[in-house]
Amino acid sequence: MAGLNITIAKTFKRDERAVLFHGDCLDLLQSVPDRSIQLVVTSPPYNVGKEYEKKLHLETYIEHQAKVIKECVRILSDTGSICWQVGNYVNDGSIIPLDTALFPIFQDFKLVMRNRIIWQFEHGLHCSRRFSGRHETINWFTKNTKNYVFNLDSVRVPQKYPGKKYFKGPKVGQHSCNPLGKNPGDVWDIPNVKNNHVEKTEHPCQFPVGLIERIVLAMTNDGDWVLDPFLGTGTSLIAAIRHNRRGAGSETEKKYIGIASNRIQKAIRGTLQTRPMNKPKYVPPESHTNTLNGIPWNRPEEQLCQLRLLESQEAYCNGNS
Ligand SMILES: C[S@@+](CC[C@H](N)C(=O)[O-])C[C@H]1O[C@@H](n2cnc3c(N)ncnc32)[C@H](O)[C@@H]1O
Repeated sequence: MAGLNITIAKTFKRDERAVLFHGDCLDLLQSVPDRSIQLVVTSPPYNVGKEYEKKLHLETYIEHQAKVIKECVRILSDTGSICWQVGNYVNDGSIIPLDTALFPIFQDFKLVMRNRIIWQFEHGLHCSRRFSGRHETINWFTKNTKNYVFNLDSVRVPQKYPGKKYFKGPKVGQHSCNPLGKNPGDVWDIPNVKNNHVEKTEHPCQFPVGLIERIVLAMTNDGDWVLDPFLGTGTSLIAAIRHNRRGAGSETEKKYIGIASNRIQKAIRGTLQTRPMNKPKYVPPESHTNTLNGIPWNRPEEQLCQLRLLESQEAYCNGNS
C-alpha cells in the first residue's frame, strides 16, 4: 500500500485529516462543531473493571454514557450514523446486555435504529457457570429517518453460489444473484483480536480493523469525518484514513495513545499489518491430520495415557489416592 501524506494533529480542526486527542472524550467532543461528523463509531468501556476503567455503579455509568451520546448526536451530520459496539455488563455472575441498557438513550434523542449487528467470534473467557460469551453487538443508528448514507455495493461479500441461475420463469437461464456480491447480513463472523491475531497489541479489547473498515465504507463517503470517542489503539482512525476519510479520536490512557500513534503512523506509511477485511475464517483441516486437531485418545501411544488417566481417576473417585 502506498504511503499517504497525512500529519497527526493533537486537536480537532475541520481541515485536518487525522486527530489523536489525548484526554477525556467530552473535551474532544466539545471542540467539534455541530453536524460536522458523518460517522461516530466506538466501543466504550463496559464498566467491568478492565485495566483502563474504574467500575462504577451501573446508573452512574449509564449517566456518563448519556452525556457522551448527547454530544455525539450534536456533532453528527444530518445524513450521519452512530455505531455503538457493546457487550455485557457483568455483576456477580449476572449479565446485563449493555445495548438494552443504552437503547432508551438513543431513543430519547430520536435516533433511528437500523441494525443490531451480531458480531460473533470464537475466543474469550471460558465460563463454567453459564455458556461462554461469544458475541457482542454493533448498534447502528441514523439521525434521519429517510436520508442517510449506506453504500451497500462497497461492502458486498461473495455469493455462496455465484453461478446459480433461474431455472424457470421469464429469466430462466440468467444468473439469479447480484454479480457484485451479496449483502453481508447482520451476523458478522470476524475473528476478535486475541493472542495470535496479527493486530494484537497490549490493549485488552481492540477492534479488528476489518470490522470498522466495513462500517466506514458503508456509512461514509470520501473525505467524510469519522470520530471515535473511546479510541484505544486507534483502530477507527486507521480504518478511516485507509479509505480516504478523515479520522478523529480521544483516549485518556497515555500508554494507548502511544500505541495508537505508532499504528496510525504505520497505516499512513502503508506498513501496518492487518487482517484483510472479508478474509475467510481459518477452518482447521480434517481431524486426525495433525497433533493439534487429532483426537489424542485415538492414537495408540496416547490411548495408553488416557487409559492410565482413567484408571487414576477411578482410584481418585473411590477415595484410594
Ligand atoms: C473498549 S476500549 C476501545 C478499544 C478500541 N476500540 C480499539 O480498537 O483499540 C475503550 C477505551 O476507552 C478509553 N477511555 C475510557 N474512558 C475514556 C474517556 N472518558 N475518554 C476517552 N477515552 C476513554 C479506555 O482507556 C479504553 O482504551
